[in-house]
Amino acid sequence: MIPESFIQELLARVDIVEVVERYVALRKAGANYSACCPFHSEKTPSFTVSPSKQFYHCFGCGAHGSAIGFIMQYSGVGFVDAVEDLAHSAGMQVPQVSERIQSERAKKAPLTELIARAARFYKEQLKASPKAIDYLKRRGLTGEIAARFGLGYAPDEWQGLEKVFTDYGDAGLLECGLVIENDQGRRYDRFRDRIVFPILDQRGNVIAFGGRVIGDGEPKYLNSPETPLFEKGRELYGLPQARKAIHENDTVIVVEGYMDVVGLAQLGVENAVASLGTATTGHNVHRLLKQANRVVFCFDRDAAGDRAARRAMDNSLEYLEDGKSVEILQMPGDQDPDEYVREHGRDAFDNLVRERATRLSEFFIREVRKPIGEPIDKQFNLTTAEGRAQLVQEAKPLLQRVAAPILRAQMAKAVADLAQLTQAEIEAQCGIKPLGRFRPGYEPRRRTVAVSLEHALLEPVLHKAERAARLPLERISKDTPHGALLHAIADRVDHGEMPAGGVGMLIESFRGTPHEETLSEWASRLAEDEPDPGELEAVFVDALERLRNKDLAGEISALTEKARLGTITPEELRALRDLLARKAQSQKTRPSE
Ligand code: UTP
Ligand code: MN
Repeated sequence: MIPESFIQELLARVDIVEVVERYVALRKAGANYSACCPFHSEKTPSFTVSPSKQFYHCFGCGAHGSAIGFIMQYSGVGFVDAVEDLAHSAGMQVPQVSERIQSERAKKAPLTELIARAARFYKEQLKASPKAIDYLKRRGLTGEIAARFGLGYAPDEWQGLEKVFTDYGDAGLLECGLVIENDQGRRYDRFRDRIVFPILDQRGNVIAFGGRVIGDGEPKYLNSPETPLFEKGRELYGLPQARKAIHENDTVIVVEGYMDVVGLAQLGVENAVASLGTATTGHNVHRLLKQANRVVFCFDRDAAGDRAARRAMDNSLEYLEDGKSVEILQMPGDQDPDEYVREHGRDAFDNLVRERATRLSEFFIREVRKPIGEPIDKQFNLTTAEGRAQLVQEAKPLLQRVAAPILRAQMAKAVADLAQLTQAEIEAQCGIKPLGRFRPGYEPRRRTVAVSLEHALLEPVLHKAERAARLPLERISKDTPHGALLHAIADRVDHGEMPAGGVGMLIESFRGTPHEETLSEWASRLAEDEPDPGELEAVFVDALERLRNKDLAGEISALTEKARLGTITPEELRALRDLLARKAQSQKTRPSE
């Protein structure tokens, strides 16, 4: 864990104005600086940065935080990464990161260096290859776009990389996937006679390549294997280049191929990224929704595209938020985005995205009208009771995973209408909590994948029980299983009774208590994924913030309304002032607290 004192020192050392200015053009406005908000689209500036408070705030969308929060929100990185970025720019060394991260980093650094050198080599080779340049030109790309994406050419030689790596036997070359070793131990370059597309991580380091044959040939694309630097499901091609346009448009377009990203950018559609030939993962959806309110997946109109669309929906449900929109665009005809934009131009493509994309809620209804995996003409016969029951069966596991309460209610209502049941019946059947106040006596079947606020608090606490000491317990209800568990853990931490030894011991220590069941639901999930410690901390900080603001915002708006109507009592007015002061205070609070 990064020590608290370091965070304080870091925030004291960096100037938020300088940090924000790296990404957003700021104008001085009185004591503060202002700009159009990078986190939502607007025409008049409501985003302000306060040098005295070292704090940013948008009056339009409510985004706010410290320099660390800004980096997290703008770049979509976790807490630890944001701290490291800032520390790096301030010339500070982050002390004492966990051993796991340290050893991973020690392993990665030399590989990053190797791969950067290979990327430079490929770029130079492109300049020297009329054949490769000609190919890119034929595909409509200018040198400017090729440079922006760092495109290169891997020469038509078995050991081309020997020219840059004097030690071609270096184990690192094998480890980062640049060379392949055959059974006789002979080495050769993975990428030969191909256009190479460098894949960058969030910080802009090259971590892998995709290589396309020039013209026809098999395989059409060859990709780096998974390496310590490159985990396919986590990365998105073109994200660093698209970031600015994503913020400006408040929309990110997710396409299937490298050439789609580059081709779209060539014609001015700069907010596109590609999901690297693998399915769009939940991790990706989660990350993208942090950067824009609208995520549009584009899929080719074929069986593979339909399957991919369904997977994108499946992977998005848990990450939906009210106020955000996930959409699916099935390309018309048989053109992919690159071909489409080339033939019809940018405006036509923009129109498609604007008008032809299907909201996820609508796509969901289309999907549940038929068995999973079947084409659209295999619909259930909704004129029969059996058909309507099948529809409910299809919808149930999906509805259970929708995290956004308002949207979930709408979707349940749509299912109810089709099934000729009431919304309440669907909700009860699926074990999902209806909107509105929690009705006492109503015991929804607990969802295994809930993403309530308590859920967001619980996971980080389970991984590190000490976090429970930071919980504002008075705001956490003991009436929900997750809330009650949070209270119980905090109580034990408070009394110094929490066993060391991680999640396993924690689960063990609650055996035989009422919390056993809640914890056992978590056990498999916890065993499954190994979350990044920085990301957990970010989730926790974010949830704390949401918790603080949730109650405050509700009370403040109720009292403000009274004040507006003139029915506020002097006592309430005092309360309102207190609340507003508390809110200002909470916004000053650093994300590390
Ligand atoms: P497509 O076959 O749709 O290619 O693959 P494309 O994007 O239209 O490429 P161009 O226009 O012919 O050059 C889409 C994505 O699937 C992965 C790649 O990531 C590719 O960008 N893919 C495809 C592979 O990994 N290997 C292949 O052999 C083919
Ligand atoms: Mn294509």
